[in-house]
Amino acid sequence: RPPTVICPSMLSSDFARLAEESQRMIELGADWLHLDVMDGNFVPNLTIGAPIIGCLRKHSDAFFDCHLMVTNPKQWIQDFAKAGADMYTFHIESVLPSGEIESLSSEHAHPAVTELITLIRQAGMHVGITLKPETPVELLFPYVTAGLVDMVLVMTVKPGFGGQKFMPEAAAKCRVLRDKWPHLLIQVDGGVDINTVATAAVFGANVIVAGTAILGASDPGEAISTLRAAVDK
Ligand code: DX5
Ligand code: ZN
Repeated sequence: RPPTVICPSMLSSDFARLAEESQRMIELGADWLHLDVMDGNFVPNLTIGAPIIGCLRKHSDAFFDCHLMVTNPKQWIQDFAKAGADMYTFHIESVLPSGEIESLSSEHAHPAVTELITLIRQAGMHVGITLKPETPVELLFPYVTAGLVDMVLVMTVKPGFGGQKFMPEAAAKCRVLRDKWPHLLIQVDGGVDINTVATAAVFGANVIVAGTAILGASDPGEAISTLRAAVDK
């Protein structure tokens, strides 16, 4: 399994102090910063976009792990690349026509997804692909098999808000992926805390996102170490 990567979700930070909070997370041992981008359309919440990420870049050398919960991920690729995003993780549901998801094959790549991946790569960013809890994990197989993605993010809550309850049945998708791809970066996001992280780790996740459990902790540094130790165990 690849090394453990701990990613505080800055959604749980004080956005008015984003630069200081980001620096603090890195000083406390975080590996990446997870930046949740919501457009109020793909999910019923509105957060930050490329302008703020570009501003943050002037204050931070950290790895910016951007999770795009937007209706049209193709639209923002250039802006995010210019803003200094490192990972561009898009939802497969935002690319595939919603009526077709159930009937789609897990054998063949969909040209719209392949095109998006190519554009992200050409813009110089790493490619992450993700899916909602109700979307079958098999839909991602063609892109992982073809070596088109750097990371798969398994959502363990309905995307949109921090502070929700971890869904173990969604986390079980990590096991399916880990059995097939021992070296794949597998990220979990949503309701991960010092208790639920063990389930995610047993299923094979190695990249851990936590918002409430880190930024909401009285000692975020200790939360980061505890999460890391639980995955490394
Ligand atoms: C939810 C976001 C998550 C969120 C996680 O849509 O993708 O990154 O910030 O927050 P917690 O860890 O509190 O569930
Ligand atoms: Zn996220």
